[in-house]
Amino acid sequence: MKLAINIKNITKTYPGVLANSDVSIKVKSGDIHAIVGENGAGKSTLMKILYGMVKPDSGNIEIFENKANMSSPKDSINLGIGMVHQHFMLAKNLTVLENIILGIDRPFLKNIKLSKYKTEIQKVMELYSLNIDLNQYVDELSVGEKQRVEIIKVLYRGAKILILDEPTAVLVPQEVKDLFKNLKDLKNNGVTVLFISHKLDEVLEIADEISVMRSGQMIDTVLNDNVSKTQLAEMMIGKSLPTPPARLTSTDEEVILKVENLKSNDENGRTIFEDVSFEVHKSEILGIAGVEGNGQKEVVEAIIGIQALDSGKVIFKNNDLEKQGTRERLESGISFIPEDRQLQAMIMEMDLTNNVIIGRQNIKKYKSSLGTVKMKNAVNESEKVISAFEVKTPGTSTLATALSGGNQQKFVVGRELEDDPSLLIASQPTRGIDIGAQALIWEKLRNSRDEGLSVLLISADLEELIGLSDRIIVFYQGKLVKEIEAENITPEDLGSYMTGLKK
Ligand SMILES: Nc1ncnc2c1ncn2[C@@H]1O[C@H](COP(=O)(O)OP(=O)(O)OP(=O)(O)O)[C@@H](O)[C@H]1O
Ligand SMILES: [Mg+2]
Repeated sequence: MKLAINIKNITKTYPGVLANSDVSIKVKSGDIHAIVGENGAGKSTLMKILYGMVKPDSGNIEIFENKANMSSPKDSINLGIGMVHQHFMLAKNLTVLENIILGIDRPFLKNIKLSKYKTEIQKVMELYSLNIDLNQYVDELSVGEKQRVEIIKVLYRGAKILILDEPTAVLVPQEVKDLFKNLKDLKNNGVTVLFISHKLDEVLEIADEISVMRSGQMIDTVLNDNVSKTQLAEMMIGKSLPTPPARLTSTDEEVILKVENLKSNDENGRTIFEDVSFEVHKSEILGIAGVEGNGQKEVVEAIIGIQALDSGKVIFKNNDLEKQGTRERLESGISFIPEDRQLQAMIMEMDLTNNVIIGRQNIKKYKSSLGTVKMKNAVNESEKVISAFEVKTPGTSTLATALSGGNQQKFVVGRELEDDPSLLIASQPTRGIDIGAQALIWEKLRNSRDEGLSVLLISADLEELIGLSDRIIVFYQGKLVKEIEAENITPEDLGSYMTGLKK
């Protein structure tokens, strides 16, 4: 069997970190090959080396059995390697067609032959059974469709090897299905796919072979048919699969958050959400379910004051928040884990200590009477988060950008929980997190809840939503359509309320 990729003895160090240690891996041509491993295991680093974005200290790589030397993504593209990044790199106000051409030609020049490109791109789409309207503007596309544009773009540039680093983390279940169908079609047409995911069920569904990394090392490569989920988990984290903590006792009667008749329209007068009323009690985890785009994200943003309301009330601990800005709301005891850690939760070019105090500069713990920052407290806090949440990093002065994706997420979750809030709004808190760390975060959330914390939990992971929540409310088309005790529902049932099949 011909090899598409043969990585030999790659080592890469960062200050204080051995990211890849003598890593070797063989990927067969035409396979879907998955790479799994803990947060910080070195998966993304290896992919960046393969794509020419990062230079290894030593080792070498063969592509289609020829020695390869990539010192930039351009070299890799010429060798037939394409990478789809998790943060899409598309221009929102251009069409799909213009985006695909961008970088090859200038779509704005009057004399450029758009139709010629269009025909060529359509051929590629037909060959690989990928569908999208080339004339649509990118900002009208769903996340799954944007990802498909990135894939088409890469294939149009001649990729025969496709690297996907956690492509499913941002997708809803139906989009994952569509992506997997696309990947199978690519495979049937000879494309080799490298696929990273923390979701072992997905990996077992799609991959031919699976490679496991741990602490910078390649542990083993196994055939999908020869391995179970439990075995895979054990190879990954060196111990058996953690079981989620048991469901809890009763919640408190005291109401911490109450929202009444919330309503909001967008700039075109279309309803984003309306008639939204619910309560969160002390010591309660209230889950919010909904397919992306059904208003639940905006409702949560209205509670912390990012999204404007046309009418309705947000009452937190008996105080009407109408006159309070986001900053005041956060300082009054609401913590927020936003969906997008890189855009909304961290400043990537700042170190961890400074990331602990962003947005909190005015609280007593960090501000002296002279107005200066109490740096020592911030360092202590940052150390506390790192150790309690097992964040893999050399220390508090490491820049956020130097952390692996999952470790950034762990740091944000830890920072928000350590802040001792009365209410935690957690949006996709375990996205991109490995199964071991996920169990740790579940446990911390449960414990905080037992000690009196109220949580508003938004998660696309239905097992997590059902497993952690006490009650679940479901959003559909901007309205709250169902309220259920979490104990009494299956993921399938929940799914049918979310898609409007059941009322
Ligand atoms: N630019 C960088 N500077 C310093 N250290 C880095 C840099 N990039 C990665 N690292 C370190 O290298 C190690 C491996 O990181 P990598 O991103 O490859 O992990 P990963 O397996 O992709 O993890 P995750 O599942 O969380 O995405 C981590 O300890 C990380 O902190
Ligand atoms: Mg990664």
